[in-house]
Amino acid sequence: MVGVLACVLSGGASFSAEEPSADVEAGHYLVVAANCSGCHTQSVDKPFAGGVALKSVFGTIYSTNITPDPETGIGRWTQEDFTRALREGIGRSGEHLYPAFPYTAFTLLSDTDITAIYRYLKTLRPVRFTAPHNDLGFPYSQRALLRIWKVLYFDPARFVPSAAQSAEWNRGAYLVNALGHCSACHSPRNFLGAEKEEWAMTGGTIIDQVGHDRARDWSSTNLTEHPNGLKSWSVEELQSYLWLGTSLRADVFGVMNNVVMNSTRHLTSADAHAMAVYIKSLAPREDDSGSSPSNDDMRQGAQLYEIHCGTCHLPTGLGSLSTGTPLVGSAIALAPDPASLINIVLIGPQLPSSAPSKQWLDRKWQQMDAFGDRMSDQEIAALLTYVRNTWGNHAGPVNADQVLKQR
Ligand code: HEC
Ligand code: HEC
Ligand code: HEC
Repeated sequence: MVGVLACVLSGGASFSAEEPSADVEAGHYLVVAANCSGCHTQSVDKPFAGGVALKSVFGTIYSTNITPDPETGIGRWTQEDFTRALREGIGRSGEHLYPAFPYTAFTLLSDTDITAIYRYLKTLRPVRFTAPHNDLGFPYSQRALLRIWKVLYFDPARFVPSAAQSAEWNRGAYLVNALGHCSACHSPRNFLGAEKEEWAMTGGTIIDQVGHDRARDWSSTNLTEHPNGLKSWSVEELQSYLWLGTSLRADVFGVMNNVVMNSTRHLTSADAHAMAVYIKSLAPREDDSGSSPSNDDMRQGAQLYEIHCGTCHLPTGLGSLSTGTPLVGSAIALAPDPASLINIVLIGPQLPSSAPSKQWLDRKWQQMDAFGDRMSDQEIAALLTYVRNTWGNHAGPVNADQVLKQR
């Protein structure tokens, strides 16, 4: 998924010869905000034709064709069929859909917005393409069992604005929860793949590409106001990260390339600001009580840090505008699952393949290398245990097996 990039969204996909109506344009914006293409566009010559492989511990699910092709896409779908898919996770023949399609978030969309999305998709160029069959182990291959899953974990709903909050906060909540489906990746999931509601937005683990061919765990960050989450970020920094792909706290890389390049950077600055306002209001929570680091690891880690990392992230961990980002209070460094932290050290940050914004090009940071060949699993574990437990940082230690798993 990391490689799917933006060009399809800049309008090139539109097929209709007529002037787009306001409705269709609104639909286009919503499709961008929900990043439908991030999961439904496998290659730029077949926009929205599906076939993207979504991996999880249960196996691989392929996204379907949502172009208006009558045979292989949604050409014969009525507005009602479409609404039922987004609101209830039910396909055209009445079959239950896998929640890898985040209808758990899209169910919150308004009727007007679902209609606009439907109308926009109907203007696309029809592409004849059928996705490969899913590759799921038993019993997950049994679609009918999703009925039970839904009884346990899913209720169709609508977004309900909070009267106690500002219009901007409510707009942000709608963008984050109904459209952006941030919690699909940023919430931990239980053994049946349902988001753990009590730990919503505190960080989860997903499987995505590392480099071009290998699939690995990536951990998402805690997005709440916890010190291991986004406490150290200002609203403006978060807005800038989502809208420009760069900020004084962090730059976009890895799995978030897909989100920022295809979706959030195309939103209005006001919408990116609203998302940041809403996210920064999330009460601090963390589902992790990591054990204490050993003194040996801390000593060895401090030395390795000085040799390999300190020149850019500085001995204080505070970073600087000309060298590297701060690691003090870094949500990546302190995520409950260190998988993404390990990835960034093993292979270096995977930067987006084109610039997210003009501002991104102006940044003065030095390029961080890959360190996978320069240290053993045990050394990287000690180094990262140190990063997670110094300068006031507190997060569970990293062990050599966790590093080996990410190689
Ligand atoms: C996180 C990935 C992801 C995102 C984002 C996503 N989808 Fe999907 N979608 C899927 C997958 C996977 C399936 C197949 C589910 C299945 O086979 O049960 C699917 C299925 C569908 C279906 C059912 C099609 C059929 O033939 O049964 C529709 C309609 C659909 N998506 C529309 C959308 C729209 C519209 C958006 C944006 C608002 C969107 N999707 C965003 C992954 C995604
Ligand atoms: C497909 C999964 C996925 C989705 C969807 C997603 N994220 Fe992320 N996010 C990640 C992962 C994984 C990371 C860890 C770093 C990386 O690989 O980009 C992350 C990191 C972040 C960070 C921290 C960046 C840093 O360097 O400290 C922020 C902020 C963030 N995401 C915000 C969001 C918001 C807001 C949304 C919804 C619009 C969102 N994410 C949707 C997977 C996702
Ligand atoms: C040559 C300078 C340089 C060196 C050396 C370096 N880094 Fe980085 N690092 C960066 C830059 C710059 C970024 C921001 C991503 C980007 O834009 O490339 C970054 C990002 C990170 C991040 C993500 C932070 C966040 O919140 O998004 C972590 C974690 C990290 N580095 C850890 C390390 C560790 C551990 C070492 C030592 C093994 C190291 N870095 C060595 C420059 C460097």
